[in-house]
Amino acid sequence: MSLFDRAVVTGLPLVPKFVVGKVAARYVAGETLDSAVEAIRELNEDGASATVDLLGEEVTERATAEKAAAEYHRILERIVADGLDCNISVKPTQMGLEIDETFCRDTYDGVVAAAKEKGLFVRLDMEDHTTIDATLRIFRWLHDRYGNVGPVFQSYMRRTLRDIAEMPAEGANVRLCKGIYIEPREVAWQGYDVVRLNFLAALEKLLRQGVYVGIATHDEYLICGAVALVDKLDVPRDQYEFQMLLGVEPALRRILLAGGHPLRVYVPYGTDWYHYSVRRLRENPKLAGHVMRAMLRGE
Ligand code: FDA
Repeated sequence: MSLFDRAVVTGLPLVPKFVVGKVAARYVAGETLDSAVEAIRELNEDGASATVDLLGEEVTERATAEKAAAEYHRILERIVADGLDCNISVKPTQMGLEIDETFCRDTYDGVVAAAKEKGLFVRLDMEDHTTIDATLRIFRWLHDRYGNVGPVFQSYMRRTLRDIAEMPAEGANVRLCKGIYIEPREVAWQGYDVVRLNFLAALEKLLRQGVYVGIATHDEYLICGAVALVDKLDVPRDQYEFQMLLGVEPALRRILLAGGHPLRVYVPYGTDWYHYSVRRLRENPKLAGHVMRAMLRGE
């Protein structure tokens, strides 16, 4: 990473919103449900399934969380009406976790019940480390009631191997990713290779436990390691899928699909694209540097 790119990544919160908006187009389907449906249709035609995410997080008003839940009901109806191969991903702080845990759980409850009725699955995205205990409590409560839910584990968290051991014996379905929030050393592994090591350890533990795993990464080293593990443990194709983000590594996505691996793409949409896009920019220093250079040139 060049010094300039590194400086840009550190200073990302200072990048003006309109600049972030320019790159959001790469990672976000659009502002409307119609734009998400169009992206999902194309992915389905290419043989990939999808999970749709209504952008929005850190909600502090009950009415905002309820509005988001209502939009998820609309999404579920649309998935069924349009026959899409798609489920939904929902953030705890969008459902009101920062307001009150019981309120958040109850907001999820309506969405998960509606999804269950339609035969659809709900992923509880994982946010920063302060939310993990509450998110896992909500997950267990929903899992006991409905079954069609699954959490996310982040391989940078030191606690992940312990959390995996506590997954329900029946019907567990998790997403495993590296983790994107900036976390203190007390709770999270910091080195790039260390996080990779823990990813593969966590993946092996999950697969050996018989858990369904969404292997969410674009890191070719991990993808190769995952393919090797699946082969070594003789994991059936209905016990795992790869997962990638819209706008990231489409070539690698096609390679995995051509190899016969199940693959799901995370499709975010909505007007609240700022925080999500800044996180994507942070992962892509070259793009961030390119955007800043263009801005400095007044383009
Ligand atoms: P890494 O960041 O090392 O990227 C590997 C390679 O992929 C890069 O070298 C580059 O080529 C490419 N790449 C990665 N990001 C890019 C970008 N933005 N633009 C262009 N190229 C890029 N995190 C979390 O904390 N909670 C969650 O719930 C989720 N959910 C989730 C769902 C899905 C489907 C995915 C794929 C990821 C998440 N994440 C997440 C994010 C995850 O934790 C992680 O931050 C990103 O996936 C990037 O990590 P990689 O494993 O891809 O490795």
